[in-house]
Amino acid sequence: MPQNDALAAFWMPFTANRQFQAAPRLLSRAEGMYYWGDDGREILDATAGLWCVNAGHGRTEITTAIAEQTRRLDFAPTFQMGHPLAFAYAERLVRMLPAPLKRVFFTNSGSEAVDTALKIARAYHFVRGEAQHTIFIGRERAYHGVGFGGLSVGGLPNNREAFGPLLEAEHLPHTLDQERNSFARGLPAFGAERADALEALIATLGAERIAAVIIEPVAGSAGVIVPPVGYLQRLRNICDRHGLLLIFDEVITGFGRLGTPFAADYFGVIPDMLTTAKGLTNGAVPMGAVFVGDQIFQAFMKGPEERIELFHGYTYSGHPLACAAGMATLDIYERESLLTRGAHVAPLFEDAVHSLRGLPLVRDIRNLGLMAAIELEPRPNAVGARGYDAQVQALQRGLLVRAAGDTIALSPPLIVEGTHLDRIIQTLRDVLRHLA
Ligand SMILES: Cc1ncc(COP(=O)(O)O)c(C=O)c1O
Repeated sequence: MPQNDALAAFWMPFTANRQFQAAPRLLSRAEGMYYWGDDGREILDATAGLWCVNAGHGRTEITTAIAEQTRRLDFAPTFQMGHPLAFAYAERLVRMLPAPLKRVFFTNSGSEAVDTALKIARAYHFVRGEAQHTIFIGRERAYHGVGFGGLSVGGLPNNREAFGPLLEAEHLPHTLDQERNSFARGLPAFGAERADALEALIATLGAERIAAVIIEPVAGSAGVIVPPVGYLQRLRNICDRHGLLLIFDEVITGFGRLGTPFAADYFGVIPDMLTTAKGLTNGAVPMGAVFVGDQIFQAFMKGPEERIELFHGYTYSGHPLACAAGMATLDIYERESLLTRGAHVAPLFEDAVHSLRGLPLVRDIRNLGLMAAIELEPRPNAVGARGYDAQVQALQRGLLVRAAGDTIALSPPLIVEGTHLDRIIQTLRDVLRHLA
């Protein structure tokens, strides 16, 4: 086993550690659309870091805001105390969300946002005297982070198998239908009826036992699975008919990825809770947030005023540096209209990625807003190997993409220009020809 002592101590997340140590890939600087490797090579970022650097790298306003905030107030507790910036930031955020999502609970990551939303759902039923609502409904191929809650509702087998018993959860079928929808541009035409599986689950379990349904409006980490036309509306209608809470996990789709501030805006479907992270602070300081419908919040605001309504929170909920980074990020999003810019770039992006159709190994291409997937034929008996090879080959050619199994996922920063798209596509052409 090759060992690289300088890299030995850090147990890397979601990484083949020994393989990495044998051939490390290190990023040491970033600005705008680019990273630079430790060898000084320029690398075009087609993944916004990890779906998070929506305004591009190294934005001075954000770094300055963080630096100034560190000097003014490095940390303040938010348990039975507060600091003004957290309230001001929360107020500004909820103004961006559609009604009734007018309350926000801060976390430090998407995983924590998901687990928080699941806990709020159960506690909501509890405070209403309906504690039997405990089962969660997720979906096959979903990614909701790595907490035990997120794992339970998630639907990626590799993420679950080593970790033993999870929370009680059932899974809806995923919506990837390559027989009917392959190479769909934007929303696929077929498959809205897959939402009806929720009716079947409700009939089996009983609505009175279900705590919440959680869905990524567009599944990201599983390889950009775009919902069929009408699917999310149908889910919402079923939830409404049975009085179920619907949670949208917008950790990826939040903050402009689809060309609207949130996927809820894009689809015109409003959930009862909405989880975010990543683009919240442009990735500069870890932060997550759960937006909560006002009627859920109000259900907790009963009983003696001195009683803590929700026994939940993190030392770093509403951390001053995260709030400062978040405020500066919103300034940039607003000034540069970045949360809607994707809508203008999306047609160009769509044409660019679909121009790869017909190249060797390309099995499917999917896209919505500024997220896209190019699914490759797997190597025989080695699922994921081709995707990994594609990622490594792209990097060698100065392009950062993300492999999800054998799918190449693209999610460039929202500042992406046509020249960047040209380079992304040209590089992927080279990679695909080389891999074939
Ligand atoms: C939809 C979704 N939910 C949750 C998460 C987990 O976020 P984090 O890695 O910040 O915990 C992710 C991360 O990619 C995600 O895509």
